[in-house]
Amino acid sequence: MKLGVNIDHVATVRQARRTFEPSPVFAALLAQQAGADQITLHLREDRRHIQDRDLELIKELVIVPVNLEMAPVEEMRDIALRVRPDRVTLVPEKREEITTEGGLDVAGMESYLKEFIKPFREKGIEVSFFIDPEEGQVRASARVEADAIELHTGTYANLWNEHRFEEAREELERLRRAGSLAKELGLRVYAGHGLTYQNVKGILALSDIIEELNIGHSIIANSVIFGIERAVKEMLRLIRGG
Ligand code: PXP
Repeated sequence: MKLGVNIDHVATVRQARRTFEPSPVFAALLAQQAGADQITLHLREDRRHIQDRDLELIKELVIVPVNLEMAPVEEMRDIALRVRPDRVTLVPEKREEITTEGGLDVAGMESYLKEFIKPFREKGIEVSFFIDPEEGQVRASARVEADAIELHTGTYANLWNEHRFEEAREELERLRRAGSLAKELGLRVYAGHGLTYQNVKGILALSDIIEELNIGHSIIANSVIFGIERAVKEMLRLIRGG
């Protein structure tokens, strides 16, 4: 499976102080250097983390594919058509949510989405829908003629994190069924949300179906932990001398 690294939360830390560091652009380049197959970022309508300029710079500087997560609204479509990421992933967005909570209701907005994605198709930008692992949503995604779906692994991840392993296994089966159907219908299948260094192991059982995982929070969280010792030593060197 390929790995898309979501760098949003580097920007979350920066925005906590509205300063210049840490830079999600720098993080994207280092993630690429480390072997990430793709850089993923979410330009939210409230701009709580990634800013328009981050997207522009990342698209300009990163050479692996760039996947822009966005709400299916006019403002974001205009930006995406101008910046031209390699892929857009359409996600539902609520201002009060902490993170993307559920999948996109493709079945409930089929005709809107069919029109909405046309300009992307014309410009050769891949279109993916972030959906819950439900048959109805998979079939609707195929009817709307998306190129791909990203299956929402949040429910699986939460069950696993709560050590409800039997239910987590059942959720993996739901993911398998939805993913297999999507493949049969000619859609590419990606997955993500809530995956960690612990619960990702279960997902590996679906590597025959899922082409790529998108992982953000856990990678950024562990970057802080892996990096703090070096960062403290460097500050000590500066204030106490060589
Ligand atoms: N995929 C999609 C569509 C998302 O919205 C997110 C969160 O921005 C992710 C993957 C990554 O989720 P996490 O940060 O929990 O790894």
